[in-house]
Amino acid sequence: MAYKDMREFLDVLREDGQLKDCDEKIKVAHGDNELQALMRLLCQNDGPALMLNNLEGYNTPDIPVIFNPFGTRERTAMMIDERDPLESKKKHARALGNPASWVDPVLVTRDQAPCKDVVIGKDEISLDKQLPHVWFGKEAASYITGAVGITHDPETGERNVGCYRLTQLWNAVHPKGEEYPEEQQKKQLSVFCFWNPPMSHIGLHLAKATAMGKPLEVAFACQCDPAIHLAAATGLAFGQDEFRFAGALRGAPVELVKAETVDIEVPATAEFIIEGVFIPNSETTIGNHSNPVGYYDAIQVFPRFEVTAITHRKNPLWYATMEMMPPFDHNYQALMPVETEVLADLQGKIPEVRDVVVTPNMTYIVQLSVDGAAKPHAEFGKYILHAVWGSAGRWGRTAKIVIVVGPDVDPYDMDSIEWAIATRVQPATDTIINESGQAFVLDPSAPKGHHGFPVVGSQLGIDATMKVPERFESYQEVSQPTAEEVAAVADKLRTILG
Ligand SMILES: Cc1cc2nc3c(=O)[nH]c(=O)nc-3n(C[C@H](O)[C@H](O)[C@H](O)COP(=O)(O)O)c2cc1C
Repeated sequence: MAYKDMREFLDVLREDGQLKDCDEKIKVAHGDNELQALMRLLCQNDGPALMLNNLEGYNTPDIPVIFNPFGTRERTAMMIDERDPLESKKKHARALGNPASWVDPVLVTRDQAPCKDVVIGKDEISLDKQLPHVWFGKEAASYITGAVGITHDPETGERNVGCYRLTQLWNAVHPKGEEYPEEQQKKQLSVFCFWNPPMSHIGLHLAKATAMGKPLEVAFACQCDPAIHLAAATGLAFGQDEFRFAGALRGAPVELVKAETVDIEVPATAEFIIEGVFIPNSETTIGNHSNPVGYYDAIQVFPRFEVTAITHRKNPLWYATMEMMPPFDHNYQALMPVETEVLADLQGKIPEVRDVVVTPNMTYIVQLSVDGAAKPHAEFGKYILHAVWGSAGRWGRTAKIVIVVGPDVDPYDMDSIEWAIATRVQPATDTIINESGQAFVLDPSAPKGHHGFPVVGSQLGIDATMKVPERFESYQEVSQPTAEEVAAVADKLRTILG
C-alpha cells in the first residue's frame, strides 16, 4: 500500500504505538540544546517517534515538529511498507536494478493538491515568519533537513530529485563574525550542493547552468510520502528520475502538481513547497554545521537561491533533525540506499551473499549464507572483501572497514560481529589492508586532496568466516541456546522478569 503523504505514514506509526505526542515544553532557541540531547536519548535506545507540540523559543508555535520518525531499522523499512530490514532492502534493490519497473508520475490539478492550501507570493516572503526555525547543538544556523530538492538539467531537461539540506540565514551566526545581510536572512536560502567531489546531481545542474549563463530554477518539497524521501536519498545514475523510482517503491505513481513560479512539478501532498531561482555565482560562508561522522564543520561555502514562493498545507507539519556522532534519527534512511546498492551488485554475481548491513558509523558487514566447508573455495571471505571494494555504484569503493561473517552471526548486532572477529580471525592472515582505496569524503582522518576533500584513503577488510578449509578441517560447535529456548524461558518467568 502506498502512503498518500507523510500524515498517513504517521497515522500508521501512531496506531502501532511508535509515535507519541509530546506536550512537554522543549527548548529549541539558538543556544538551547534540548533537541540534540533528545536525539541522543531516543536514538541510543531505539525510542519512539515524537510529535513535538510545545516548543519554547520557536517562531511558528502553531506548526508541530515531527521528531525521530525513521529512527529504527523497522521504521525505515516502513517507509516503503515493509517491517523487516532485509525484506525492505530486497524490495529497494529489485526496483533499483530494474528501471523498466519504474512508474511515471501523474500530474494533478491545483485543487487536487493540498500543498497549495496556502500560497505566499514573492513580495510577501519573509523567512523569519513563514518557515519554522529550531536549533540543535552548537550549530550556527537552523537547517532545513526534511526537504527533497528538484531541478532540471539545463541541457537535457532531465529531472533530478535529491535530499539536500538548506541553511536558513535568519538569525544565523556567521563563522567569520560577519553579518548576513537582511535581504539574505529574509528572502534567500543556501543549499548544500557540492559541485566538486562528492558531486551531487543538483551541484552538477548548477555547474552546467552557470557555464551556459542560464538561471537554474529549484523547488524543495518538505515532508512528503516517505518513499519519496528514500528515493531522493538513493544514488541513481545522473539523468535518472527519482520520482519514477519512487513510483516503483510505492507501487503507485507519485502525484505532482505545477509549481507557482518555476517550471517544475512538485509532490502534491507535501507539507511545504519552497520555490526559487539560484543566484548566479553566489557564495555563502556557513558554519558550524554538525556532520554525519560526528564532527562540526566550521566553515563551508555554498550557493544561495532567492525564494520566489512558498506554498503549504493547512495546519502544516514540520520535520527537523541533525547529524552528529551516530546514532541519529536518519542514519538508517541514509544508509539503506547504500546497503542496497552494494547488496544488489553482490547478489547479482555471488549467490552466497545474504545481506549487507552498514552500521551508523559506516562499517560494512557482509553476511553469507554459507560458512566453513560449505564456502565455494578457500579464502572466499577475502574474495568478498575485494568484491565490496569493486562493486558498482558510488559507495562500495569507499568502504573503510568491511567485515565478512557467516550465517550464524547476526549482522545487525555488534556483540555478535565482535565475537566472530574474536574467535574466527587471525589478524596477520585474515585481514587485508588496501592502501589505495577511495576515502569517504567526510572522513577527517584521511589526507585531503586538492579540492580540500579526502580522495584516497586506506581500507581494512576482515574475513571473519570460519577458516575451514583454510586452516582447519572442522570448527568447534558453538555453545548457545536456540532463540525458541530463550523465548520459552522468558515466557515461563514473565511474572518475575516482566
Ligand atoms: C536526511 C538526509 C539529508 C541529506 N543531506 C545531504 C546534503 O545536504 N547534501 C548532499 O550532497 N547529500 C545529502 N544527503 C545524501 C544525498 O541525498 C544522497 O547522496 C543522494 O543520492 C543525492 O542525490 P543525487 O545523487 O541525485 O545528487 C542526505 C541524505 C539524507 C537521507
